[in-house]
Amino acid sequence: MTVNAKTSPSAGNTWRDLPAAQQPEYPDAEALRAVIADLEAYPPLVFAGECDQLRARMAAVAKGEAFLLQGGDCAEAFDAVSADHIRNKLKTLLQMGAVLTYAASVPVVKVGRIAGQYSKPRSKPTETRDGVTLPVYRGDSVNGFDFTEASRIPDPERLKRMYHASASTLNLVRAFTTGGYADLRQVHAWNQDFVRTSPSGQRYEQLAREIDNALHFMRACGTDPEEFKTVEFFSSHEALLLDYESALTRVDSRTGKLYDVSGHMVWIGERTRQLDHAHIEFASKIRNPVGIKLGPTTTAEEALRYVDRLDPEREPGRLTFIVRMGAGKIRDRLPELVEKVTASGAAVAWVTDPMHGNTFEAASGHKTRRFDDVLDEVKGFFEVHKALGTHPGGIHVELTGDDVTECVGGGDEIFVDDLHQRYETACDPRLNRSQSLDLAFLVAEMYRDQ
Ligand code: PEP
Ligand code: CO
Repeated sequence: MTVNAKTSPSAGNTWRDLPAAQQPEYPDAEALRAVIADLEAYPPLVFAGECDQLRARMAAVAKGEAFLLQGGDCAEAFDAVSADHIRNKLKTLLQMGAVLTYAASVPVVKVGRIAGQYSKPRSKPTETRDGVTLPVYRGDSVNGFDFTEASRIPDPERLKRMYHASASTLNLVRAFTTGGYADLRQVHAWNQDFVRTSPSGQRYEQLAREIDNALHFMRACGTDPEEFKTVEFFSSHEALLLDYESALTRVDSRTGKLYDVSGHMVWIGERTRQLDHAHIEFASKIRNPVGIKLGPTTTAEEALRYVDRLDPEREPGRLTFIVRMGAGKIRDRLPELVEKVTASGAAVAWVTDPMHGNTFEAASGHKTRRFDDVLDEVKGFFEVHKALGTHPGGIHVELTGDDVTECVGGGDEIFVDDLHQRYETACDPRLNRSQSLDLAFLVAEMYRDQ
């Protein structure tokens, strides 16, 4: 790895000739250039070899030999870079991972929406409150959440803060996952605790007991595998701000290939996936495993063109389709995509994002999602794959380890009238800790019925 390498002047910047949607309009171009130069000199946040490792893990997902659990905040925030928040999020993901591993009987690839998820595509460029119209909040990497004129001006210095926030988050994540905290027996004890104390816990007692028996059996046999003590965990985020992503794109000295070293996996969002635009061009140049969000209007022809552009070698693990159609549409729209892509010989990983097609505004004005819609979209995803004989590769969810009240429903039911109590998201509503664990147990049951 070339630690202090510059971006490759041509290869990593070919996107600059193309239209790029959702980019901030910085008032001071010179200030942006100076920030980019600084970022180009910063050390990588992840190693190219780790990205290769994740690509190999995703190849197993694409082949039906592993399951992806990808989750975290809709938008990370600079003031939420604290040990408590990071630990709670990680703990929730690890608990979900343990349940899913047992139920699916295959490795669960764990990827956080973490350490880089600071930039948000928005449906509208402005926001109006009480007759005042200001530029919309685009994530902490761009402007401030406060509804004031000064705060909403895009500031390139925030790109550097994103880098540092990502670095300190990743540092703690690496410590937690390799330093003993993530031991499987400990994670299982947390799950037992959840089953004991959650209102819907009884439903999961059987599964938790089975896992307990399996662990006891192994201990009785005298096995104490190293794999129980540490966890392989990867980072991911939407590659939205191309100035940032390309400043962190480096030539790997082993292979001579370009890697976006801002995270292990990056994805292109629903609003920036235009085939002949900058984001797809950027993604086509890097060797990281990449995802594309596919909304309900995606055609099979488009999906095939993504394969051609991003995975011309048909390499399992390179490309993941993250489907976010909505509970009411997935059963209708997904089959044709899966059929045609599979028939083309491409080996992509299919993952469901049951969040972004199920958002609505409650009477209180809060953006929210119903737990039952989320669950129903996952069910639809599993049904489609079962009918076609293909592999439901994983779930991509917005969640937090904290007890927020942002999505309605779940075993520890949250009502529309509760939303105001702890509505803390900087963007979309997230499943809270108990809703996330509910989802994991329910998906585990689905997987076993598959
Ligand atoms: C997101 O993942 O937060 C997001 C904005 O998703 P999408 O691009 O699918 O709308
Ligand atoms: Co979101």
